[in-house]
Amino acid sequence: MPINYKMTITEKKGSQLSYAFFVFYTLAIQAFIHPAAGTSIETTEIRKGFSATPGHVNSEFQYLLADPTGLFAFGFMRVGPTKLNLAVVHLPSSLPVWSAIPSNLANWGLSTTLSFDGNLVLTDKSIHDGVLWSSNSTGGDFLVLRNTSNLQILSSSDENSAVWQSFDHPSDTLVQGQNFTSMTSLTTPDSRYALRIIGTHIGLYMEFGGRHEINYWRHSPFGAKGAIIYGIVQPLGFFGFYNADSSKAELLPFDSFDRGYLGLHRVTIQNDGNLHAYFWDNNKWDLVYTAVTEPCGLPGICGAYGLCLPGKPSCFCMVNGTDGCLQTDSGDFCSKEYNDFSVVRRSGVTVEYNELMLSARVQSLAECEKICERNCTCWGALFSKTTNVCYLMDYPIQTVEASGDTHQGYFKVRQQGGGGSAERHRTATAVSVIFTLVFAGFALYGGYWCWDKRRSNLLRLQLAGSSQEMTQTPFKDLRSMNT
Ligand SMILES: *[C@@H]1O[C@H](CO)[C@@H](O)[C@H](O)[C@H]1NC(C)=O
Ligand SMILES: *[C@@H]1O[C@H](CO)[C@@H](O)[C@H](O)[C@H]1NC(C)=O
Ligand SMILES: *[C@@H]1O[C@H](CO)[C@@H](O)[C@H](O)[C@H]1NC(C)=O
Ligand SMILES: *[C@@H]1O[C@H](CO)[C@@H](O)[C@H](O)[C@H]1NC(C)=O
Ligand SMILES: *[C@@H]1O[C@H](CO)[C@@H](O)[C@H](O)[C@H]1NC(C)=O
Repeated sequence: MPINYKMTITEKKGSQLSYAFFVFYTLAIQAFIHPAAGTSIETTEIRKGFSATPGHVNSEFQYLLADPTGLFAFGFMRVGPTKLNLAVVHLPSSLPVWSAIPSNLANWGLSTTLSFDGNLVLTDKSIHDGVLWSSNSTGGDFLVLRNTSNLQILSSSDENSAVWQSFDHPSDTLVQGQNFTSMTSLTTPDSRYALRIIGTHIGLYMEFGGRHEINYWRHSPFGAKGAIIYGIVQPLGFFGFYNADSSKAELLPFDSFDRGYLGLHRVTIQNDGNLHAYFWDNNKWDLVYTAVTEPCGLPGICGAYGLCLPGKPSCFCMVNGTDGCLQTDSGDFCSKEYNDFSVVRRSGVTVEYNELMLSARVQSLAECEKICERNCTCWGALFSKTTNVCYLMDYPIQTVEASGDTHQGYFKVRQQGGGGSAERHRTATAVSVIFTLVFAGFALYGGYWCWDKRRSNLLRLQLAGSSQEMTQTPFKDLRSMNT
């Protein structure tokens, strides 16, 4: 099964809206953006009383406002054949670096209006009379687009501090110079994945609504020393992190770091949940950083109950569904209606991010399984035979990775239909399905995997070593070193 098989799986999970959003967004990104015939991009300021309606039927992007350098523009971006969103676009690459997150996408038509009266408001009467998106700002007099791509609402009495700015409400992209704080997050258009600053680290999360989430990647710049206050992507090619005493800085270097070229960098959370950094080389976006280097380390890569074979990654199912692997919903096994489950066991499976998981030291596999079986918020567990550690999954089962035979997996599968809690225990044991290895080739793969893993661990160690050296250099010195 090819890796892009997961697309069908991911698509089904979201609500209709986020599904539509996801597809449209993807199309929009792929669409080439032309300036509409006769469109002027000389407007560098929008004043109170402004109102606009999408006009040019054939254009992919309708400019409303340009930055002083002509590199970025704000306007209506076509999404799919009939919809639109508000976006700030990097013109040379047609890439949206910011887009609004409306309750519904507006139609590209006369029913849609963008107005500015201090508050920037998008409405579409053909959808409903209310507001689809609004900056929720008051006291603004005009709207400008900065040469950094920051869209700002300013008041005439104080032109230096913005009443509202797009930099405080990022979508999936962080551009160079944009302040990334614990108040903001980068999210994929389907809201499935997010990059957030939490306490002492930044991390990638897969979200299931409520308190269920998977933290599958983490970078802890300050160790336990102090909370990160903000992070900024810097022109020298790194993600800089700053704590309360902003003179103290640590950095996550990109491949472009220390190469002497100053150009536009951006960090984007991809639709598959990976985090990439890019450098604009005046012709194309060069990939200069990837957070999750093993594709099987992405929790959604093969969808729910998916099994990812590393190396040249390919997807299989641990539990088959009607179309692909079995789908899971969110939630847990704690309510009466939904407390029934069967069990699937599989050996030789693990995840790349088990150090980030909830874990317990146990005596045996049986003890590990028992912990999960008895806890209604637990969906599954991985037992490590070599370390006697039990890793717990308190979220619907996602993709696991095939690996040697050091780990044993235990996974709950929701039963269709009723069944009381008295029946639950019996069902759980009776229906327990023990899966022997379906893929004989895994043993072979295991060997390869161990070798590959050791190799990549070595690489990681080397990287970690070099970034530690950098930690000790204060940011100020680093700067002078490189200029
Ligand atoms: C504006 O307020 C509404 C309702 O409180 C909220 O849903 C929306 O996300 C806000 N918009 C922005 C850009 O913060
Ligand atoms: C961007 O604008 C700032 C002032 O707002 C200016 O100092 C800077 O030189 C400009 N950068 C470019 C690349 O034009
Ligand atoms: C970034 O945001 C933090 C928290 O709001 C603030 O303390 C810091 O001064 C900001 N830094 C810059 C460079 O804007
Ligand atoms: C799932 O289906 C595939 C192909 O339809 C089959 O090869 C595989 O054995 C099935 N897996 C399980 C666990 O039933
Ligand atoms: C059940 O598991 C959750 C996390 O998965 C944990 O927070 C909770 O304490 C556990 N409950 C019991 C009774 O062990």
